[in-house]
Amino acid sequence: MKPTKKLIIAVDGPAAAGKGTLAKSLAQVLGLPYLDTGLLYRAVARRVIDQGANPHDDATVFAESLETDDLERNDLRQPEVDQAASLVARQPGVRAALLERQRHFGRLGGAVIDGRDIGTVVFPDADMKFFITASPGVRAQRRYRQRYGHDCDDETVLQKEVRAITERDQQDASRDVAPLKPAIDAVMIKTDHLTAADVLHKTLDVLRERGLLGS
Ligand code: DC
Repeated sequence: MKPTKKLIIAVDGPAAAGKGTLAKSLAQVLGLPYLDTGLLYRAVARRVIDQGANPHDDATVFAESLETDDLERNDLRQPEVDQAASLVARQPGVRAALLERQRHFGRLGGAVIDGRDIGTVVFPDADMKFFITASPGVRAQRRYRQRYGHDCDDETVLQKEVRAITERDQQDASRDVAPLKPAIDAVMIKTDHLTAADVLHKTLDVLRERGLLGS
């Protein structure tokens, strides 16, 4: 399936709603590069933690000196990084340092980019914007499955995950710079009762309806 041009497709939404899964498969089907912008904030947070710095303090220097190796580490998805990433992502200096890197990536050859502010700040003129959501309980179960490879059947553990996710969303949505929110022209998709394949087909249908896909 070929896009009619080098599309920029923004996929935003809260944690564990299915954005990454969708963005990755859309990129693969359309032959576009894929960028997970959450990894940038996670890599900054990882450096802060490794240096014994406080994630509440200004982390701009860590963002400015981010290297490709920092993004390829396999310890960027640990719970302590979830929380620290959300804290460094509140900082205007960190966001400014990462902004041009994201724009440069997209402009090279089009891209599917997932994050929180792609359709509102990074690429407000994106060809297509999706905002992916799911209820906190569903997202907590998905996050648990990603981490441990099976469903969580302990209600106490699941509720703890729900609280962590809700707290992080609240932090991401209430910050002053580039808060988590749908762009006014984003197509909203709630994924509670949809499989990953359902979501992919829905988005491809929208792209086709808008004349953004060739035959
Ligand atoms: O998508 P994720 O869970 O990997 O993102 C990690 C953190 O980074 C999350 O708390 C929100 C923040 N983030 C952001 O503020 N803007 C983005 N474009 C991507 C992620």
